[in-house]
Amino acid sequence: MDKIVIEGGNRLIGEIAISGAKNSALPLMAAALLNDGCSTITNIPNLKDIDTFKRLLEHLGCHIDDSNRSVKINVSDIKTPEAPYELVKTMRASVLILGPLVTHFKRARVSLPGGCAIGARPINLHLMGLERMGAKIKIEHGYVEVSAEKLKGADIYFDVPTVTGTENLMMAACLADGITVIENAAKEPEVLELATALNKMGGCISGAGTEKIRIEGVRKLKPIEYAVMPDRIEAGTYMIASAATRGNLLLKNCPIDLLEALSIKLKEVGAEIIIERNNTRGIGNNPTRSVDIKTSPYPGFPTDLQAQMMSMMCISSGLSVFTETIFENRFMHVSELKRMGANIQVDGRTAIVKGMPFLSGAPVMATDLRASASLLIAALVGEGETEISRVYHLDRGYESIEEKLAGVGAKIKRVRK
Ligand code: EPZ
Repeated sequence: MDKIVIEGGNRLIGEIAISGAKNSALPLMAAALLNDGCSTITNIPNLKDIDTFKRLLEHLGCHIDDSNRSVKINVSDIKTPEAPYELVKTMRASVLILGPLVTHFKRARVSLPGGCAIGARPINLHLMGLERMGAKIKIEHGYVEVSAEKLKGADIYFDVPTVTGTENLMMAACLADGITVIENAAKEPEVLELATALNKMGGCISGAGTEKIRIEGVRKLKPIEYAVMPDRIEAGTYMIASAATRGNLLLKNCPIDLLEALSIKLKEVGAEIIIERNNTRGIGNNPTRSVDIKTSPYPGFPTDLQAQMMSMMCISSGLSVFTETIFENRFMHVSELKRMGANIQVDGRTAIVKGMPFLSGAPVMATDLRASASLLIAALVGEGETEISRVYHLDRGYESIEEKLAGVGAKIKRVRK
């Protein structure tokens, strides 16, 4: 398993281009299953999760033609509506094929994704919605089988706003009979982007981006060409890294308008954010003031940036209180940060971070995607050398991260094992 070795202490100065958004590319690729032709998705990031999803679509019988960050998905030859365990266990987003397959091919059989490092991550709300639309749900041998002759529009209420749950049901409702309304829907930008693409296919969706989405079923959808928006979480990660290292990073194609909560928090700690047309310059100053962070669904502070922000607060002045409201186990980075000298006390979903004068490099282990980004930021500011193991977590969500960081002054290298 590869490791990443970083010599800390360098300011990040220069330009980084933001890649396409992983959490938008995945549902957009799933949406290709809603028509019988060949859709082209462009500005696709070069990531392991994207490769896994391509393999999943090929397993279903799709013909995939990918080159230079674009993927053509030809759905004319679907053989099986089944997603096997060995593919789903490595990427929970595989559940996104449920809605498209059952509404277009009347049946889907997907291995239950199971939990992951950050939490149980159930899909009960996805299944509740499909059941309300008339699907038959059968769970056996670790698989969920969903079938329906024809889905019917229904009124659906989510107890919690689930991102992929909203995306799954929006796709399912596009070809259902009648009107579906999703109340307490997720408002993330990736949901709005998916609705925009579905409408371009000929869907009839309104309200995406708000807590109430209305989908009127249509008879058929057509293939499209669609460019994925820039990744707000990748961009936010580099903004935090720039601030933490007192750097001066220009982020090209940065979706700064989707990072309001982070921008406000970074200004609170003393960083400067300068908008230069559609680029954003993040400048870190010292010392970093402390700040409290409470994650919440969009447009609140993203749970996917909580770990990264915590790394920066480890070297701030004062106490910062982090409250993680989305996932029950998203403090896996804390024990690794403490190996680097961080002073953090965890009590349930709250972590209290006492800023220290410095962090020291140490061998640490990545446990999940965003925790690995947090360790990277800690290593960049830490004194001495840090070796991060299990970096396959990082490769799931950050394209060419060591090249991008080395290009702006980080002393970073990948050691292939
Ligand atoms: C999406 O996951 C993202 N993944 C996650 O990004 C992100 O952290 C999360 O949304 C929250 O923003 C993709 O878009 C591929 P949820 P998702 O369903 O859809 C509970 C990353 O780092 N819930 O919005 O799986 C759930 O337990 C990843 O890129 C149910 O109870 O998250 C959680 O507490 C990590 N029942 C809350 O809802 C359900 O049926 C939000 O989860 C579904 C969810």
